[in-house]
Amino acid sequence: MPGYHVKFETVTVGGLHYQIRSLLDLQQYADPHGAAERAGISPASWPLFGHIWPSARILALAMHGFDLTGKRILEIGAGLALASLVIHRRAGDMTVSDWHPLSQTFLEANLQLNGLAPMKYQPGNWAGDNPGLGEFDLIIGSDVLYERQQPEQLARFIDRHAAPEAQIIIVDPDRGNRVGFCKAMAHLGYACSMRPAGRVMENGAAYKGRFLNFSEA
Ligand SMILES: C[S@@+](CC[C@H](N)C(=O)[O-])C[C@H]1O[C@@H](n2cnc3c(N)ncnc32)[C@H](O)[C@@H]1O
Repeated sequence: MPGYHVKFETVTVGGLHYQIRSLLDLQQYADPHGAAERAGISPASWPLFGHIWPSARILALAMHGFDLTGKRILEIGAGLALASLVIHRRAGDMTVSDWHPLSQTFLEANLQLNGLAPMKYQPGNWAGDNPGLGEFDLIIGSDVLYERQQPEQLARFIDRHAAPEAQIIIVDPDRGNRVGFCKAMAHLGYACSMRPAGRVMENGAAYKGRFLNFSEA
């Protein structure tokens, strides 16, 4: 027994089905060896990686039709990495990152469930240096601005891993930290454009949020 419970669901992106193993609910918690605690993950935020958040569905659908040609792509705070699975299925050059000790385990299970080949994974903590991670032409993320310290941390992390002329796309469910993030990115020399995401998701549920697009000014 891993100490937490999971469920299996089918998520449809662009008409294609993905089988996803996720945490049963947001009450799950298991950190028997203290790996999450050492990384700085509190019990309250422990389960957040293991759920497909609505913004992940929006980002994944955007990636279903996005031009991936010649791009090294990084998903940050990927959680269950739905958008990365979509890009990987399309043969994009994809790297997944998160700081949660179980993110890679769930990624490997979901690759297998969908008959997909292994995908690159790199642990990445926005608060620290991640020297092995490298640079990327496209950096994507969904629902990654929910704590007060994240706008500054994330902006610096993105800047360290953005190749020249990189494009950054974040889907944010209208959280209050969005403004601070745009300011932090502007301070580092990135111009921001925003556009509302569609109000209805592919599964019929309502969505309120927007795409934040950044590129070097
Ligand atoms: C709300 S969840 C969103 C997960 C996924 N992007 C989605 O939309 O379904 C936030 C994610 O950010 C990750 N995260 C939070 N703080 C982080 C940090 N300092 N470094 C790396 N990842 C972090 C969490 O582990 C979690 O997977």
